[in-house]
Amino acid sequence: MEIIETRTTPIEGQKPGTSGLRKKTHVFMGPHYLENYVQSIFDGIGGVDGKTLVLGGDGRYFNDRAAQVILRMAAANGAAKVIVGVGALLSTPAASNLIRKRGTDGGLILSASHNPGGPEEDFGLKYNGPNGGPASEGVTDRIYAATQTITGYKIAEAHDVDLSAPGTHRIGPMEVEVIDPVTDYAALMEELFDFDALRALFSGGFTMTFDAMHAVTGPYAKTILEGKLGAAAGTVINAEPKPDFGGGHPDPNPIWAKPLVDRMMGGDAPDFGAASDGDGDRNMIVGRGIYITPSDSLAVLAANAPLAPAYAGGLAGVARSMPTSAAVDRVAEKLGIDCYETPTGWKFFGNLLDAGRATLCGEESAGTGSDHVREKDGLWAVLLWLNILAKSGKSVAELMADHWQTYGRNYYSRHDYEDVDAGVANEMVEELRGRLAELPGQEHGGLTVESATEFSYDDPVDGSRSARQGLIIAFEGGARAVIRLSGTGTVGATIRLYLERLETDPAKLDADPQDALAPVIAAAESIAGIKERSGREGPNVIT
Ligand code: G6P
Ligand code: ZN
Repeated sequence: MEIIETRTTPIEGQKPGTSGLRKKTHVFMGPHYLENYVQSIFDGIGGVDGKTLVLGGDGRYFNDRAAQVILRMAAANGAAKVIVGVGALLSTPAASNLIRKRGTDGGLILSASHNPGGPEEDFGLKYNGPNGGPASEGVTDRIYAATQTITGYKIAEAHDVDLSAPGTHRIGPMEVEVIDPVTDYAALMEELFDFDALRALFSGGFTMTFDAMHAVTGPYAKTILEGKLGAAAGTVINAEPKPDFGGGHPDPNPIWAKPLVDRMMGGDAPDFGAASDGDGDRNMIVGRGIYITPSDSLAVLAANAPLAPAYAGGLAGVARSMPTSAAVDRVAEKLGIDCYETPTGWKFFGNLLDAGRATLCGEESAGTGSDHVREKDGLWAVLLWLNILAKSGKSVAELMADHWQTYGRNYYSRHDYEDVDAGVANEMVEELRGRLAELPGQEHGGLTVESATEFSYDDPVDGSRSARQGLIIAFEGGARAVIRLSGTGTVGATIRLYLERLETDPAKLDADPQDALAPVIAAAESIAGIKERSGREGPNVIT
């Protein structure tokens, strides 16, 4: 094997965000861009000599080429073995499972998650550690530092590895094991859930639509739902992964998965609707006539998880990201278990899961998961819902109504202002941060500010501190507005405004969330002036 050592210089801006490095595809395809970053990952984790890695991605444009480059670089850097999915495909949760199951030293996942794909759209790469989870901040800091001092990278001179079918290949001494991307993941799901009950559910006439959004979960959902569980052929729609996701935006929310939501609200809706994102870690749940917010989904799953075999013994604890609604907190309180509040980003759940402190975790951004892997897991959430529906005999709407009657309803919505000038957005946050101390006691939009703080997180397991994780404005009576800047965008800045209000009056549980939250929306605008500063009439995404 001939190893080429190429001289290079640092490329600006290779700083991993909330979930790895995401850039426009043409940026990633630029000279040395991918190679610099991959070498920096290897250097940042202390080298890959003798190590075994997992490799795969969501199949977006450039996924296949990038995978071949990474294989040659892994070989040149002395890796012992890389386990890669056929076609260089692996959903993020399936990659996490493989890292854990095969006891590897981590893995590289090619994805920009729910961002669109294609030459003009987005690409991404992230490193997950040996526990199967996204690298901690300590590790991503070292990777970033390596991008700033890099002087060269190593790559093997070799032909493309045939990734079209399972098999074993070599690049020099490095072994490349090509595996079916679905098999191990499907086996894990079968361990966790009552597949007999799910088969009985479908054979009893239960109907569902799963929108794979032309992204990576298509083959997984087809194998599990239609293959193993006997759901009708055609249950999985948009099942074929495409490099540009069929021109769509593979984000499972009411805006980007609108056709599915419309179908669920119509007269011939199936019993259950679900969708997953580009790399298969997000989920959207819709019942007949009812959309379930991710925050409510987490709460319902926590309250009913013991209906599934894997969680029959109860939950050790639960965790949610700070901007996620407190619906799950109310469940935890009733169950008498701990509820942790972490910064945005799945990586923050890793320590809690590893330490056995939390069993279920979730985020408002359509992520739900458990200790079965170290990533959020879209299809897992769907299967847990199905298991709960099968065992409880309730419809989605009945389950949700019962839940709200028991726990009250945390009305919730997120307003996004995308592609705002980064300077304007930063200045807005900066200025508001400076005013936090004077807000308590002030009245805005008819609500009185009770407290105004900036969230920082002290990890209870490793003691690390993550500061500046969002501004929280709490109002008397329990409502709350949170403002933070997204860490996953690739152009400009995205301002996120998260709104929440608890309603316990049994007669007031069926309002439109935007109506129920109107006072909080008005108060937040009066305090932060997002519309005014961004020059926008309103948010461009409402979840
Ligand atoms: C990704 C991460 C999540 C995060 C979400 C939104 O999906 O995996 O952990 O909640 O992005 O992050 P953002 O920084 O854009 O709000
Ligand atoms: Zn994703």
